[in-house]
Amino acid sequence: MSFKDTVAEIIAEKAGISAGECASFLETPPQKEMGDLAFPCFKLARVMRKAPPAIAAELKESIVLPDFVKECRVEGGYLNFFFSPEKRAESVLTEINEKGESYGSSDEGAGRTICLDYSSINIAKRCHIGHLTTTVLGNSLAKIHRFLGYKTVSINHLGDWGTQFGKMICAFKHWGKREDVEKNGVNALIDLYVRFDREADENLENEARAWFKKIEDDDPEATELFTWFKDITLKDVAVIYDLLGIHFDSYAGESFYKDKCGAVIEELKEKNLLEFSQGAYVVNLDKYDMPPCILLKSDGATIYATRDLAAAFYRKKTYDFDKCLYVVAYQQDLHFKQIFKVIELMGYPWAKDLIHVPFGMVSYEGQTLSTRKGHVVYLDELLHRACDKALDIINEKNPDLPDKEKVARQVGIGAVVFYDLFSGRIKDVDFWWDRALNFEGETGPYVQYAHTRCCSVLAKAPALDAALADFSALSDESSTELITLLENFPQVVADAAQKYEPSVITRYCAALAQSYNKFYFDNRIIGENEGVMQARLLATKCTRDVIKTALDLLGIDAPEKM
Ligand code: ARG
Repeated sequence: MSFKDTVAEIIAEKAGISAGECASFLETPPQKEMGDLAFPCFKLARVMRKAPPAIAAELKESIVLPDFVKECRVEGGYLNFFFSPEKRAESVLTEINEKGESYGSSDEGAGRTICLDYSSINIAKRCHIGHLTTTVLGNSLAKIHRFLGYKTVSINHLGDWGTQFGKMICAFKHWGKREDVEKNGVNALIDLYVRFDREADENLENEARAWFKKIEDDDPEATELFTWFKDITLKDVAVIYDLLGIHFDSYAGESFYKDKCGAVIEELKEKNLLEFSQGAYVVNLDKYDMPPCILLKSDGATIYATRDLAAAFYRKKTYDFDKCLYVVAYQQDLHFKQIFKVIELMGYPWAKDLIHVPFGMVSYEGQTLSTRKGHVVYLDELLHRACDKALDIINEKNPDLPDKEKVARQVGIGAVVFYDLFSGRIKDVDFWWDRALNFEGETGPYVQYAHTRCCSVLAKAPALDAALADFSALSDESSTELITLLENFPQVVADAAQKYEPSVITRYCAALAQSYNKFYFDNRIIGENEGVMQARLLATKCTRDVIKTALDLLGIDAPEKM
Protein backbone atom coordinates (compact mmCIF):
# COMPACT_ATOMS: atom_id res chain seq x y z
CA MET A 1 0.00 0.00 0.00
CA SER A 2 1.27 3.50 -0.80
CA PHE A 3 2.29 5.86 2.00
CA LYS A 4 -0.59 8.10 1.10
CA ASP A 5 -3.15 5.31 1.37
CA THR A 6 -1.69 4.19 4.67
CA VAL A 7 -1.91 7.70 6.10
CA ALA A 8 -5.45 7.98 4.74
CA GLU A 9 -6.45 4.78 6.52
CA ILE A 10 -5.01 5.92 9.83
CA ILE A 11 -6.77 9.28 9.72
CA ALA A 12 -9.98 7.75 8.44
CA GLU A 13 -10.22 5.48 11.46
CA LYS A 14 -10.12 8.42 13.86
CA ALA A 15 -12.19 10.78 11.78
CA GLY A 16 -15.02 8.40 11.02
CA ILE A 17 -14.96 8.77 7.24
CA SER A 18 -13.90 6.28 4.58
CA ALA A 19 -10.25 5.80 3.72
CA GLY A 20 -11.02 6.53 0.07
CA GLU A 21 -12.58 9.87 0.92
CA CYS A 22 -9.70 10.65 3.22
CA ALA A 23 -7.19 9.86 0.47
CA SER A 24 -8.98 12.22 -1.88
CA PHE A 25 -8.51 15.05 0.66
CA LEU A 26 -4.78 14.48 1.18
CA GLU A 27 -2.63 16.98 -0.67
CA THR A 28 0.99 17.42 -1.59
CA PRO A 29 2.03 20.68 0.10
CA PRO A 30 3.20 23.46 -2.20
CA GLN A 31 6.60 23.69 -0.47
CA LYS A 32 8.96 20.95 0.63
CA GLU A 33 9.40 22.64 4.04
CA MET A 34 5.74 21.93 4.72
CA GLY A 35 6.18 18.20 4.54
CA ASP A 36 5.37 15.43 2.11
CA LEU A 37 1.67 15.16 2.65
CA ALA A 38 -0.92 17.45 4.19
CA PHE A 39 -4.39 16.77 5.49
CA PRO A 40 -6.72 19.79 5.29
CA CYS A 41 -8.73 19.45 8.51
CA PHE A 42 -11.48 21.87 7.47
CA LYS A 43 -12.78 18.95 5.42
CA LEU A 44 -13.76 17.38 8.74
CA ALA A 45 -15.14 20.52 10.37
CA ARG A 46 -18.72 19.45 9.74
CA VAL A 47 -18.48 15.85 10.94
CA MET A 48 -16.26 16.63 13.91
CA ARG A 49 -17.95 19.92 14.79
CA LYS A 50 -14.75 21.72 15.70
CA ALA A 51 -12.47 24.35 14.27
CA PRO A 52 -9.84 22.95 11.88
CA PRO A 53 -6.78 23.72 14.10
CA ALA A 54 -8.46 21.92 17.01
CA ILE A 55 -9.18 18.94 14.78
CA ALA A 56 -5.56 18.89 13.62
CA ALA A 57 -4.32 18.92 17.21
CA GLU A 58 -6.72 16.20 18.24
CA LEU A 59 -5.78 13.96 15.32
CA LYS A 60 -2.12 14.43 16.03
CA GLU A 61 -2.65 13.24 19.60
CA SER A 62 -4.77 10.25 18.75
CA ILE A 63 -3.15 8.65 15.72
CA VAL A 64 -0.33 6.14 15.90
CA LEU A 65 2.26 7.14 13.34
CA PRO A 66 3.47 4.47 10.93
CA ASP A 67 7.24 3.90 10.86
CA PHE A 68 7.73 5.79 7.62
CA VAL A 69 6.45 9.04 9.12
CA LYS A 70 9.34 10.85 10.72
CA GLU A 71 7.27 13.69 12.06
CA CYS A 72 3.78 15.07 12.07
CA ARG A 73 3.06 18.76 12.65
CA VAL A 74 0.01 20.93 13.14
CA GLU A 75 0.14 24.02 10.91
CA GLY A 76 -2.97 26.10 11.05
CA GLY A 77 -5.83 23.92 9.94
CA TYR A 78 -3.51 21.38 8.39
CA LEU A 79 -1.88 18.25 9.67
CA ASN A 80 1.44 17.87 7.86
CA PHE A 81 3.35 14.63 7.55
CA PHE A 82 7.08 14.37 7.02
CA PHE A 83 8.25 11.05 5.65
CA SER A 84 11.50 9.37 6.41
CA PRO A 85 13.43 9.71 3.15
CA GLU A 86 14.97 6.32 3.70
CA LYS A 87 11.68 4.49 4.16
CA ARG A 88 10.11 6.31 1.30
CA ALA A 89 13.01 5.44 -1.03
CA GLU A 90 12.68 1.83 0.00
CA SER A 91 8.97 1.71 -0.64
CA VAL A 92 9.05 3.55 -3.99
CA LEU A 93 12.04 1.71 -5.42
CA THR A 94 10.84 -1.70 -4.27
CA GLU A 95 7.54 -1.16 -5.99
CA ILE A 96 9.13 0.02 -9.26
CA ASN A 97 11.67 -2.78 -9.16
CA GLU A 98 8.89 -5.32 -8.86
CA LYS A 99 6.66 -3.81 -11.51
CA GLY A 100 9.40 -2.85 -13.98
CA GLU A 101 8.01 -1.28 -17.13
CA SER A 102 4.43 -1.79 -15.99
CA TYR A 103 4.90 0.67 -13.11
CA GLY A 104 2.34 3.43 -13.52
CA SER A 105 -0.14 1.30 -15.42
CA SER A 106 -3.54 0.52 -13.98
CA ASP A 107 -6.79 -1.25 -14.71
CA GLU A 108 -8.87 1.91 -14.47
CA GLY A 109 -10.06 1.34 -18.04
CA ALA A 110 -10.77 -2.38 -17.80
CA GLY A 111 -13.81 -3.29 -19.87
CA ARG A 112 -14.01 0.15 -21.43
CA THR A 113 -13.33 1.18 -25.00
CA ILE A 114 -12.02 4.46 -26.33
CA CYS A 115 -12.19 5.33 -30.01
CA LEU A 116 -9.56 7.76 -31.21
CA ASP A 117 -9.92 9.56 -34.52
CA TYR A 118 -6.51 10.95 -35.45
CA SER A 119 -4.13 11.64 -38.30
CA SER A 120 -7.14 11.32 -40.62
CA ILE A 121 -5.27 12.23 -43.77
CA ASN A 122 -6.69 13.34 -47.08
CA ILE A 123 -6.38 11.10 -50.11
CA ALA A 124 -4.26 12.31 -53.02
CA LYS A 125 -2.63 14.97 -50.88
CA ARG A 126 0.79 14.89 -49.34
CA CYS A 127 1.13 15.11 -45.56
CA HIS A 128 2.85 18.25 -44.41
CA ILE A 129 4.05 19.46 -41.04
CA GLY A 130 0.45 20.46 -40.22
CA HIS A 131 -0.42 16.76 -39.90
CA LEU A 132 2.29 16.09 -37.36
CA THR A 133 0.42 16.99 -34.20
CA THR A 134 -2.79 15.07 -34.81
CA THR A 135 -0.72 12.02 -35.67
CA VAL A 136 1.66 11.99 -32.72
CA LEU A 137 -0.84 13.37 -30.21
CA GLY A 138 -3.43 10.77 -31.16
CA ASN A 139 -0.88 7.99 -31.03
CA SER A 140 0.29 9.05 -27.59
CA LEU A 141 -3.25 9.32 -26.24
CA ALA A 142 -3.98 5.83 -27.54
CA LYS A 143 -0.88 4.47 -25.82
CA ILE A 144 -1.64 6.24 -22.55
CA HIS A 145 -5.16 4.84 -22.49
CA ARG A 146 -3.99 1.32 -23.28
CA PHE A 147 -1.51 1.63 -20.43
CA LEU A 148 -4.46 2.45 -18.16
CA GLY A 149 -6.28 -0.68 -19.25
CA TYR A 150 -8.65 0.73 -21.85
CA LYS A 151 -9.27 -1.00 -25.11
CA THR A 152 -8.49 1.50 -27.85
CA VAL A 153 -9.61 1.72 -31.45
CA SER A 154 -7.37 3.92 -33.58
CA ILE A 155 -9.26 5.28 -36.55
CA ASN A 156 -7.85 7.08 -39.56
CA HIS A 157 -10.95 8.86 -40.83
CA LEU A 158 -9.66 9.27 -44.36
CA GLY A 159 -10.66 12.35 -46.33
CA ASP A 160 -11.60 10.29 -49.37
CA TRP A 161 -14.86 11.74 -50.58
CA GLY A 162 -15.71 14.68 -52.75
CA THR A 163 -16.06 15.81 -56.33
CA GLN A 164 -12.28 16.20 -56.64
CA PHE A 165 -12.01 12.44 -57.03
CA GLY A 166 -14.17 12.65 -60.15
CA LYS A 167 -11.80 15.26 -61.48
CA MET A 168 -8.82 13.11 -60.72
CA ILE A 169 -10.21 10.12 -62.56
CA CYS A 170 -11.09 12.33 -65.48
CA ALA A 171 -7.55 13.75 -65.53
CA PHE A 172 -6.05 10.30 -65.27
CA LYS A 173 -8.15 9.03 -68.17
CA HIS A 174 -6.95 11.89 -70.35
CA TRP A 175 -3.32 12.31 -69.43
CA GLY A 176 -2.30 9.74 -66.86
CA LYS A 177 0.00 6.76 -67.12
CA ARG A 178 -0.14 3.88 -64.68
CA GLU A 179 3.63 3.45 -64.46
CA ASP A 180 3.97 7.14 -63.70
CA VAL A 181 1.55 7.04 -60.81
CA GLU A 182 3.02 3.78 -59.50
CA LYS A 183 6.45 5.38 -59.58
CA ASN A 184 5.75 8.89 -58.32
CA GLY A 185 2.89 8.16 -55.97
CA VAL A 186 0.89 11.02 -54.60
CA ASN A 187 3.00 13.58 -56.45
CA ALA A 188 1.77 12.16 -59.76
CA LEU A 189 -1.82 12.39 -58.54
CA ILE A 190 -1.31 15.99 -57.51
CA ASP A 191 0.17 16.82 -60.92
CA LEU A 192 -2.87 15.34 -62.60
CA TYR A 193 -5.18 17.36 -60.40
CA VAL A 194 -3.28 20.57 -61.03
CA ARG A 195 -3.42 19.94 -64.77
CA PHE A 196 -7.15 19.37 -64.56
CA ASP A 197 -7.57 22.67 -62.80
CA ARG A 198 -5.53 24.44 -65.44
CA GLU A 199 -7.24 22.90 -68.44
CA ALA A 200 -10.76 22.46 -67.13
CA ASP A 201 -13.45 23.67 -69.48
CA GLU A 202 -17.15 22.95 -69.55
CA ASN A 203 -16.62 19.54 -71.18
CA LEU A 204 -14.01 18.35 -68.71
CA GLU A 205 -16.09 19.56 -65.78
CA ASN A 206 -19.05 17.60 -67.07
CA GLU A 207 -16.92 14.50 -67.52
CA ALA A 208 -15.56 14.89 -64.00
CA ARG A 209 -19.05 15.15 -62.60
CA ALA A 210 -20.02 12.02 -64.47
CA TRP A 211 -17.03 10.18 -63.02
CA PHE A 212 -17.89 11.23 -59.52
CA LYS A 213 -21.43 9.99 -60.07
CA LYS A 214 -19.91 6.69 -61.18
CA ILE A 215 -17.91 6.45 -57.98
CA GLU A 216 -21.11 7.07 -56.05
CA ASP A 217 -22.87 4.35 -58.03
CA ASP A 218 -20.11 1.77 -57.56
CA ASP A 219 -19.27 1.58 -61.25
CA PRO A 220 -16.45 -1.00 -61.48
CA GLU A 221 -13.95 1.09 -63.45
CA ALA A 222 -14.47 4.20 -61.34
CA THR A 223 -14.25 2.16 -58.14
CA GLU A 224 -11.08 0.46 -59.28
CA LEU A 225 -9.34 3.77 -60.02
CA PHE A 226 -10.62 5.44 -56.87
CA THR A 227 -9.45 2.51 -54.71
CA TRP A 228 -6.12 2.58 -56.46
CA PHE A 229 -5.65 6.30 -55.72
CA LYS A 230 -6.30 5.48 -52.10
CA ASP A 231 -3.80 2.64 -52.08
CA ILE A 232 -1.19 4.90 -53.64
CA THR A 233 -1.73 7.54 -50.96
CA LEU A 234 -1.70 5.01 -48.14
CA LYS A 235 1.49 3.45 -49.48
CA ASP A 236 3.13 6.88 -49.43
CA VAL A 237 1.97 7.69 -45.93
CA ALA A 238 3.00 4.25 -44.66
CA VAL A 239 6.59 5.53 -44.80
CA ILE A 240 5.66 8.18 -42.25
CA TYR A 241 3.70 5.82 -40.03
CA ASP A 242 6.57 3.32 -40.10
CA LEU A 243 9.05 5.96 -39.01
CA LEU A 244 6.73 7.02 -36.21
CA GLY A 245 5.83 3.44 -35.28
CA ILE A 246 2.12 4.11 -35.67
CA HIS A 247 -0.61 1.78 -36.80
CA PHE A 248 -4.37 2.07 -37.15
CA ASP A 249 -7.14 -0.39 -36.44
CA SER A 250 -9.40 1.15 -39.03
CA TYR A 251 -9.08 3.24 -42.16
CA ALA A 252 -12.82 3.72 -42.53
CA GLY A 253 -12.90 7.20 -44.04
CA GLU A 254 -15.56 9.49 -45.38
CA SER A 255 -16.41 7.32 -48.39
CA PHE A 256 -17.15 4.43 -46.06
CA TYR A 257 -20.19 6.37 -44.87
CA LYS A 258 -21.67 7.16 -48.27
CA ASP A 259 -24.42 4.56 -47.82
CA LYS A 260 -24.83 5.30 -44.11
CA CYS A 261 -25.82 8.97 -44.31
CA GLY A 262 -29.32 8.31 -45.61
CA ALA A 263 -30.52 6.67 -42.42
CA VAL A 264 -29.26 9.58 -40.32
CA ILE A 265 -31.01 12.09 -42.57
CA GLU A 266 -34.23 10.07 -42.32
CA GLU A 267 -34.02 10.04 -38.56
CA LEU A 268 -33.42 13.80 -38.47
CA LYS A 269 -36.51 14.30 -40.61
CA GLU A 270 -38.60 12.04 -38.41
CA LYS A 271 -37.49 13.95 -35.35
CA ASN A 272 -38.36 17.23 -37.06
CA LEU A 273 -34.85 18.52 -36.77
CA LEU A 274 -34.09 19.08 -40.44
CA GLU A 275 -35.22 22.22 -42.22
CA PHE A 276 -34.65 23.72 -45.64
CA SER A 277 -32.96 27.07 -45.41
CA GLN A 278 -31.09 29.19 -47.95
CA GLY A 279 -30.71 26.39 -50.43
CA ALA A 280 -29.62 23.65 -48.05
CA TYR A 281 -30.94 21.19 -45.49
CA VAL A 282 -29.79 22.20 -42.04
CA VAL A 283 -30.31 21.67 -38.36
CA ASN A 284 -31.04 25.03 -36.82
CA LEU A 285 -28.83 25.73 -33.82
CA ASP A 286 -29.84 29.34 -33.15
CA LYS A 287 -30.84 28.51 -29.60
CA TYR A 288 -27.34 27.35 -28.87
CA ASP A 289 -25.66 30.40 -30.40
CA MET A 290 -24.29 28.45 -33.29
CA PRO A 291 -24.78 28.81 -37.02
CA PRO A 292 -26.94 26.08 -38.57
CA CYS A 293 -25.31 22.72 -39.12
CA ILE A 294 -25.54 22.17 -42.87
CA LEU A 295 -26.10 18.54 -43.79
CA LEU A 296 -27.34 18.33 -47.38
CA LYS A 297 -26.71 20.55 -50.35
CA SER A 298 -29.70 21.49 -52.47
CA ASP A 299 -28.95 18.60 -54.85
CA GLY A 300 -29.09 16.21 -51.90
CA ALA A 301 -25.33 15.68 -51.74
CA THR A 302 -23.89 14.99 -48.28
CA ILE A 303 -21.05 17.02 -46.83
CA TYR A 304 -18.21 16.57 -44.34
CA ALA A 305 -20.57 17.08 -41.38
CA THR A 306 -23.11 14.51 -42.60
CA ARG A 307 -20.43 11.88 -42.85
CA ASP A 308 -19.15 12.74 -39.38
CA LEU A 309 -22.65 12.21 -38.02
CA ALA A 310 -22.90 8.85 -39.75
CA ALA A 311 -19.43 7.95 -38.47
CA ALA A 312 -20.36 8.71 -34.87
CA PHE A 313 -23.41 6.42 -35.07
CA TYR A 314 -21.45 3.69 -36.80
CA ARG A 315 -18.69 3.83 -34.15
CA LYS A 316 -21.14 3.76 -31.30
CA LYS A 317 -22.86 0.72 -32.79
CA THR A 318 -19.67 -1.09 -33.78
CA TYR A 319 -17.40 -0.42 -30.81
CA ASP A 320 -19.83 0.65 -28.10
CA PHE A 321 -17.25 3.19 -26.99
CA ASP A 322 -17.18 4.86 -23.60
CA LYS A 323 -15.58 7.84 -25.26
CA CYS A 324 -14.75 8.85 -28.77
CA LEU A 325 -11.89 11.34 -29.07
CA TYR A 326 -11.44 13.53 -32.15
CA VAL A 327 -7.85 14.69 -32.26
CA VAL A 328 -8.30 17.54 -34.72
CA ALA A 329 -6.95 21.12 -34.90
CA TYR A 330 -8.87 23.85 -33.09
CA GLN A 331 -9.96 25.33 -36.43
CA GLN A 332 -12.64 22.64 -36.43
CA ASP A 333 -14.00 23.59 -32.99
CA LEU A 334 -17.32 24.77 -34.37
CA HIS A 335 -17.74 21.78 -36.65
CA PHE A 336 -17.49 19.36 -33.73
CA LYS A 337 -19.64 21.46 -31.41
CA GLN A 338 -22.36 21.38 -34.06
CA ILE A 339 -22.08 17.64 -34.69
CA PHE A 340 -22.16 16.82 -30.99
CA LYS A 341 -25.11 19.13 -30.44
CA VAL A 342 -27.08 17.56 -33.29
CA ILE A 343 -26.58 14.10 -31.79
CA GLU A 344 -27.68 15.41 -28.42
CA LEU A 345 -30.79 16.93 -29.99
CA MET A 346 -31.54 13.60 -31.60
CA GLY A 347 -31.87 12.32 -28.06
CA TYR A 348 -28.69 10.32 -27.59
CA PRO A 349 -27.17 10.76 -24.14
CA TRP A 350 -23.83 9.43 -25.37
CA ALA A 351 -23.36 12.72 -27.22
CA LYS A 352 -21.54 13.77 -24.06
CA ASP A 353 -18.95 11.04 -24.69
CA LEU A 354 -17.86 12.60 -27.98
CA ILE A 355 -14.87 14.72 -27.21
CA HIS A 356 -12.98 17.08 -29.44
CA VAL A 357 -9.31 17.21 -28.41
CA PRO A 358 -8.11 20.37 -30.18
CA PHE A 359 -4.54 21.49 -30.69
CA GLY A 360 -2.67 24.50 -32.06
CA MET A 361 -0.87 25.06 -35.33
CA VAL A 362 2.68 24.18 -36.29
CA SER A 363 4.85 26.71 -38.04
CA TYR A 364 8.38 26.13 -39.23
CA GLU A 365 11.36 28.21 -38.15
CA GLY A 366 9.22 31.29 -37.73
CA GLN A 367 7.28 30.95 -40.99
CA THR A 368 3.61 30.24 -41.14
CA LEU A 369 3.01 27.61 -43.71
CA SER A 370 0.65 27.90 -46.56
CA THR A 371 0.23 25.46 -49.38
CA ARG A 372 -1.04 28.26 -51.53
CA LYS A 373 2.02 30.41 -51.10
CA GLY A 374 4.28 27.44 -51.66
CA HIS A 375 5.57 27.42 -48.05
CA VAL A 376 5.22 23.74 -47.31
CA VAL A 377 7.29 21.37 -45.25
CA TYR A 378 6.36 17.82 -46.11
CA LEU A 379 6.18 15.49 -43.18
CA ASP A 380 8.22 12.66 -44.74
CA GLU A 381 10.96 15.14 -45.62
CA LEU A 382 10.94 16.61 -42.14
CA LEU A 383 11.26 13.18 -40.53
CA HIS A 384 14.00 12.00 -42.89
CA ARG A 385 15.87 15.20 -42.31
CA ALA A 386 15.60 14.72 -38.56
CA CYS A 387 17.17 11.27 -38.93
CA ASP A 388 19.97 12.63 -41.15
CA LYS A 389 20.73 15.41 -38.73
CA ALA A 390 20.79 12.99 -35.82
CA LEU A 391 23.20 10.80 -37.78
CA ASP A 392 25.48 13.80 -38.36
CA ILE A 393 25.54 14.46 -34.64
CA ILE A 394 26.29 10.81 -33.86
CA ASN A 395 29.07 10.74 -36.46
CA GLU A 396 30.58 13.72 -34.76
CA LYS A 397 30.17 12.63 -31.13
CA ASN A 398 30.29 8.87 -31.24
CA PRO A 399 31.36 7.62 -34.67
CA ASP A 400 31.92 4.02 -33.60
CA LEU A 401 28.44 3.52 -32.20
CA PRO A 402 27.03 0.17 -33.30
CA ASP A 403 23.76 0.27 -35.28
CA LYS A 404 24.21 3.97 -35.97
CA GLU A 405 21.43 4.32 -38.53
CA LYS A 406 18.87 2.76 -36.26
CA VAL A 407 19.86 4.94 -33.31
CA ALA A 408 19.85 8.02 -35.54
CA ARG A 409 16.30 7.18 -36.52
CA GLN A 410 15.25 6.79 -32.90
CA VAL A 411 16.91 10.04 -31.90
CA GLY A 412 15.77 12.07 -34.91
CA ILE A 413 12.16 10.95 -34.68
CA GLY A 414 12.24 11.21 -30.90
CA ALA A 415 13.42 14.81 -31.18
CA VAL A 416 10.55 15.79 -33.47
CA VAL A 417 7.86 13.98 -31.48
CA PHE A 418 9.11 15.26 -28.13
CA TYR A 419 9.24 18.82 -29.41
CA ASP A 420 5.74 18.61 -30.80
CA LEU A 421 4.34 17.17 -27.56
CA PHE A 422 6.22 19.44 -25.19
CA SER A 423 3.91 22.43 -24.87
CA GLY A 424 0.29 22.26 -23.86
CA ARG A 425 -1.50 21.01 -26.96
CA ILE A 426 -3.58 24.11 -27.54
CA LYS A 427 -0.47 26.27 -27.96
CA ASP A 428 0.88 26.88 -31.43
CA VAL A 429 4.24 25.22 -32.01
CA ASP A 430 7.07 26.83 -33.91
CA PHE A 431 9.45 24.12 -35.05
CA TRP A 432 13.19 24.88 -34.92
CA TRP A 433 15.84 22.30 -35.66
CA ASP A 434 18.42 23.60 -33.21
CA ARG A 435 15.87 23.53 -30.40
CA ALA A 436 14.47 20.09 -31.20
CA LEU A 437 17.84 18.42 -31.61
CA ASN A 438 19.66 20.19 -28.79
CA PHE A 439 21.19 17.60 -26.47
CA GLU A 440 21.18 20.03 -23.55
CA GLY A 441 17.73 21.56 -23.23
CA GLU A 442 14.39 19.99 -22.47
CA THR A 443 14.47 17.82 -25.56
CA GLY A 444 13.93 14.26 -26.69
CA PRO A 445 17.64 13.57 -27.20
CA TYR A 446 18.38 14.92 -23.72
CA VAL A 447 15.91 12.50 -22.16
CA GLN A 448 17.09 9.61 -24.34
CA TYR A 449 20.63 10.43 -23.30
CA ALA A 450 19.74 10.18 -19.62
CA HIS A 451 18.29 6.76 -20.37
CA THR A 452 21.52 5.62 -22.05
CA ARG A 453 23.43 6.95 -19.04
CA CYS A 454 21.36 4.72 -16.74
CA CYS A 455 21.96 1.79 -19.09
CA SER A 456 25.68 2.35 -19.14
CA VAL A 457 25.94 2.70 -15.36
CA LEU A 458 24.12 -0.61 -14.97
CA ALA A 459 26.27 -2.26 -17.62
CA LYS A 460 29.51 -1.17 -15.98
CA ALA A 461 28.53 -1.95 -12.39
CA PRO A 462 28.47 -5.33 -10.65
CA ALA A 463 25.10 -7.07 -10.78
CA LEU A 464 22.22 -5.32 -9.05
CA ASP A 465 20.97 -6.99 -5.89
CA ALA A 466 18.16 -4.92 -4.41
CA ALA A 467 18.19 -6.97 -1.19
CA LEU A 468 21.59 -5.49 -0.34
CA ALA A 469 20.56 -1.87 -0.79
CA ASP A 470 21.17 0.50 2.10
CA PHE A 471 18.39 3.03 1.64
CA SER A 472 19.88 5.51 4.06
CA ALA A 473 22.24 6.35 1.19
CA LEU A 474 19.26 7.94 -0.57
CA SER A 475 18.49 10.64 1.98
CA ASP A 476 20.44 13.49 0.38
CA GLU A 477 18.68 16.22 -1.53
CA SER A 478 19.24 15.04 -5.09
CA SER A 479 18.27 11.46 -4.23
CA THR A 480 15.13 12.62 -2.44
CA GLU A 481 14.14 14.71 -5.40
CA LEU A 482 14.66 11.79 -7.77
CA ILE A 483 12.62 9.47 -5.56
CA THR A 484 9.79 12.00 -5.38
CA LEU A 485 9.66 12.22 -9.16
CA LEU A 486 9.67 8.45 -9.51
CA GLU A 487 6.91 8.21 -6.97
CA ASN A 488 4.80 10.71 -8.90
CA PHE A 489 4.85 8.83 -12.20
CA PRO A 490 1.51 6.99 -11.84
CA GLN A 491 -0.19 10.30 -11.01
CA VAL A 492 1.48 11.95 -14.01
CA VAL A 493 0.11 9.30 -16.36
CA ALA A 494 -3.36 9.57 -14.84
CA ASP A 495 -3.28 13.37 -15.22
CA ALA A 496 -2.15 13.15 -18.82
CA ALA A 497 -5.08 10.84 -19.60
CA GLN A 498 -7.60 12.89 -17.73
CA LYS A 499 -6.59 16.11 -19.50
CA TYR A 500 -5.83 14.46 -22.85
CA GLU A 501 -2.48 16.11 -22.47
CA PRO A 502 0.66 14.08 -23.21
CA SER A 503 2.70 17.24 -22.54
CA VAL A 504 2.30 16.40 -18.85
CA ILE A 505 4.42 13.31 -19.54
CA THR A 506 6.82 15.12 -21.85
CA ARG A 507 7.61 17.69 -19.19
CA TYR A 508 7.88 15.02 -16.58
CA CYS A 509 10.43 13.19 -18.73
CA ALA A 510 12.57 16.31 -18.95
CA ALA A 511 12.38 16.83 -15.18
CA LEU A 512 13.22 13.20 -14.47
CA ALA A 513 16.20 13.23 -16.84
CA GLN A 514 17.46 16.41 -15.25
CA SER A 515 16.99 15.05 -11.77
CA TYR A 516 18.83 11.85 -12.59
CA ASN A 517 21.74 13.81 -14.04
CA LYS A 518 21.97 15.80 -10.84
CA PHE A 519 21.81 12.62 -8.79
CA TYR A 520 24.54 11.12 -10.96
CA PHE A 521 26.90 14.06 -10.56
CA ASP A 522 26.25 14.44 -6.83
CA ASN A 523 26.66 10.79 -5.92
CA ARG A 524 29.34 8.25 -6.61
CA ILE A 525 27.77 4.96 -7.59
CA ILE A 526 30.47 2.46 -8.41
CA GLY A 527 33.26 2.15 -5.87
CA GLU A 528 31.12 2.92 -2.81
CA ASN A 529 30.51 0.22 -0.24
CA GLU A 530 28.09 -2.50 -1.30
CA GLY A 531 24.95 -1.19 0.44
CA VAL A 532 25.37 2.34 -0.87
CA MET A 533 26.23 1.18 -4.36
CA GLN A 534 23.25 -1.17 -4.50
CA ALA A 535 20.85 1.56 -3.37
CA ARG A 536 22.12 3.92 -6.06
CA LEU A 537 22.10 1.19 -8.68
CA LEU A 538 18.52 0.39 -7.80
CA ALA A 539 17.58 4.07 -8.16
CA THR A 540 19.35 4.01 -11.53
CA LYS A 541 17.50 0.94 -12.73
CA CYS A 542 14.15 2.34 -11.64
CA THR A 543 14.88 5.62 -13.40
CA ARG A 544 15.82 3.73 -16.54
CA ASP A 545 12.55 1.82 -16.52
CA VAL A 546 10.41 4.85 -15.84
CA ILE A 547 12.09 6.93 -18.56
CA LYS A 548 11.64 4.07 -21.01
CA THR A 549 7.96 3.66 -20.16
CA ALA A 550 7.31 7.40 -20.24
CA LEU A 551 9.00 7.83 -23.62
CA ASP A 552 7.09 4.87 -24.96
CA LEU A 553 3.82 6.51 -23.92
CA LEU A 554 4.84 9.48 -26.06
CA GLY A 555 5.67 7.21 -29.00
CA ILE A 556 9.42 7.63 -28.61
CA ASP A 557 12.05 4.87 -28.51
CA ALA A 558 14.70 4.73 -25.83
CA PRO A 559 18.00 3.48 -27.31
CA GLU A 560 20.45 1.88 -24.90
CA LYS A 561 23.42 3.61 -26.43
CA MET A 562 23.76 6.81 -28.41
N1 ARG B 1 -9.40 15.00 -43.01
C1 ARG B 1 -9.73 16.09 -42.16
C2 ARG B 1 -8.77 17.24 -42.37
O1 ARG B 1 -7.66 17.05 -42.84
C3 ARG B 1 -9.68 15.71 -40.70
C4 ARG B 1 -10.70 14.72 -40.28
C5 ARG B 1 -10.87 14.67 -38.81
N2 ARG B 1 -11.79 13.68 -38.37
C6 ARG B 1 -13.13 13.78 -38.49
N3 ARG B 1 -13.84 12.77 -38.05
N4 ARG B 1 -13.70 14.84 -38.98
O2 ARG B 1 -9.14 18.36 -42.04
